Amino acid sequence: MKNMHWLILSICLLYIHPTKSLLPPDDSSCSNQCFHQLPSECPSPENPCRCRQLTNCQKAAVCCNVNRFTLKEGLACDITAASQIQSLHIRNASFDSFNLSANQNVWRNLRYMTITDGHIKKIDGEFAKQNSISCLNLSSNHINSIEDRALNTLFNLSFLDLSHNNLTDVPSFRKDHTIFLDISNNMYLNCSILTNTLQSHPEIAFVNENQTFCYPTKDLDFGWFQSQATLAFSQVKAKYELEKNCHQNCSCKTVSVNLAPGKMAMFEVEMNCANMSFLNLPVPLPDNTVSLDVSNNNITSIKELSEPSYQNLRSFIADNNKISSVQPLEGTKFISHFNTLSLQRNKFKFLETYVLDNIQFERNFNQRKLRLGYNTLQCDCNTMKLKVWLLSKLSHIPDYNHIKCDNLNVRIIDLDASKMCQSPQDWTDYIYYIITAEVLLLVGLIAKVSYDYWVFKTAGYLPWPANRMPRLPCDWLCE
Ligand SMILES: *[C@@H]1O[C@H](CO)[C@@H](O)[C@H](O)[C@H]1NC(C)=O
Ligand SMILES: *[C@@H]1O[C@H](CO)[C@@H](O)[C@H](O)[C@H]1NC(C)=O
Ligand SMILES: *[C@@H]1O[C@H](CO)[C@@H](O)[C@H](O)[C@H]1NC(C)=O
Ligand SMILES: *[C@@H]1O[C@H](CO)[C@@H](O)[C@H](O)[C@H]1NC(C)=O
Ligand SMILES: *[C@@H]1O[C@H](CO)[C@@H](O)[C@H](O)[C@H]1NC(C)=O
Ligand SMILES: *[C@@H]1O[C@H](CO)[C@@H](O)[C@H](O)[C@H]1NC(C)=O
Ligand SMILES: *[C@@H]1O[C@H](CO)[C@@H](O)[C@H](O)[C@H]1NC(C)=O
Ligand SMILES: *[C@@H]1O[C@H](CO)[C@@H](O)[C@H](O)[C@H]1NC(C)=O
Ligand SMILES: *[C@@H]1O[C@H](CO)[C@@H](O)[C@H](O)[C@H]1NC(C)=O
Ligand SMILES: *[C@@H]1O[C@H](CO)[C@@H](O)[C@H](O)[C@H]1NC(C)=O
Repeated sequence: MKNMHWLILSICLLYIHPTKSLLPPDDSSCSNQCFHQLPSECPSPENPCRCRQLTNCQKAAVCCNVNRFTLKEGLACDITAASQIQSLHIRNASFDSFNLSANQNVWRNLRYMTITDGHIKKIDGEFAKQNSISCLNLSSNHINSIEDRALNTLFNLSFLDLSHNNLTDVPSFRKDHTIFLDISNNMYLNCSILTNTLQSHPEIAFVNENQTFCYPTKDLDFGWFQSQATLAFSQVKAKYELEKNCHQNCSCKTVSVNLAPGKMAMFEVEMNCANMSFLNLPVPLPDNTVSLDVSNNNITSIKELSEPSYQNLRSFIADNNKISSVQPLEGTKFISHFNTLSLQRNKFKFLETYVLDNIQFERNFNQRKLRLGYNTLQCDCNTMKLKVWLLSKLSHIPDYNHIKCDNLNVRIIDLDASKMCQSPQDWTDYIYYIITAEVLLLVGLIAKVSYDYWVFKTAGYLPWPANRMPRLPCDWLCE
């Protein structure tokens, strides 16, 4: 009877706490996003079995100081049901290559897999398709490479810790949901690959960014870089953000300057907005934009060059647009700083020489280039000033041969002053004719009046047409 009571009580307890009554309680070290045990949890060194099932955590085990053989043995010796294990920490494993395909029966139910503080050159093989691993910690193992498909079957992965290894690239893994990735302290990480990862996988949240570095390669436009220098992730990210947040329909390329160790890289931006049917210049430009190409658009004015965001611009290429005046250049920072200005194939009818005259080409600016070719101007005597200016700047205006007159089909540099400035002389000649004619007319008039007066005095009548004239109010004055 007494036994019966106990049995019923036990069944009730089981019913209320079906698992907890049979398994040890979890403490916070067991699953706090990932599973991580201190070396003190390792089996004692005398123990021939290298793995130990924990008493403070459910379905959890720790293996220490293992190699390929002792790991297999350890997973078999002390763990009552290895295939039930959900949390596993393997410390100080020494493997040339850790084959994930081995011991599949143990990995099958794992949610947290932690392999840290060991010597593993390479991770290969792959996990079985049915697995529930949500955190994989491979930190501090001197890992040089992870086989391409090794992590591809981790459908439930949300935390991947690859920190403190010697990886050169970011291994591939499923990125169809948010994943926290810690890839800090891998000093030879390829910057191009890191940038690509950043670019193509916004769902990756990088952990320990301040300790994440990469090694710049020449193919990535980090400008000049000091050999052996690593870049901070923050700089890679800054570069990426700059390129991503470019003006709509434009592409930005960043080139870093000043990669002195310990200093944040500064970026200069080269912006390309060619072939976009823009009607106006883009405003504002990203910070530190030094070069802008807006060729093949329908831009009519360059007045935006005086915008503050244009102040660092040194190269401006606006070929094949509908710009009609260089006047907005006047007084801009650009006109005093630029090294390239290209305005070929635009709609200039005049080039304001008083603006062009302000461009310095001497001393610091002898590399300055200004391209104005394939514009056809309305030429007249004033265009001679432009010719004079052009002739004095030939080395800075590489396409001077292609600046022509619309009305004359002649190159500006071939304009002939004696022909161009002839029409004003014709005009003065014409004036002379008029004056001569007027003088002759006046003389004739005086002669006629004198004759009339003489006839009137001598013959007493007025000759024609004076005798036909009506009497005017002033006539009484004569009478
Ligand atoms: C790591 O394991 C090896 C044996 O595999 C052992 O000789 C070494 O002392 C262990 N290191 C630490 C820090 O426990
Ligand atoms: C990993 O182990 C699996 C099964 O044990 C085997 O088929 C595979 O060839 C191994 N891979 C490597 C790279 O050793
Ligand atoms: C992964 O293991 C490393 C090394 O033992 C440890 O410092 C780190 O905190 C672990 N990461 C997580 C997310 O638990
Ligand atoms: C793994 O993910 C699937 C869906 O992707 C989900 O149904 C399942 O519950 C997850 N398993 C664990 C252990 O979180
Ligand atoms: C780490 O990686 C670099 C570059 O791949 C290599 O030169 C170096 O020998 C590696 N170091 C170790 C300890 O494997
Ligand atoms: C880095 O990756 C890029 C692109 O994948 C590759 O072209 C380049 O050779 C790599 N650099 C190094 C040092 O491995
Ligand atoms: C990372 O560095 C930045 C700037 O140096 C600092 O503001 C930030 O607090 C750091 N973050 C962490 C987590 O240390
Ligand atoms: C960018 O291009 C798209 C498609 O060509 C166009 O619809 C949009 O108006 C453009 N945006 C700007 C700012 O020009
Ligand atoms: C713009 O179009 C021209 C001619 O179609 C082409 O040569 C040039 O490469 C294009 N530029 C850009 C930046 O797409
Ligand atoms: C730009 O100019 C071209 C040719 O003059 C014209 O075909 C095109 O429609 C214009 N585009 C816009 C957006 O005005």
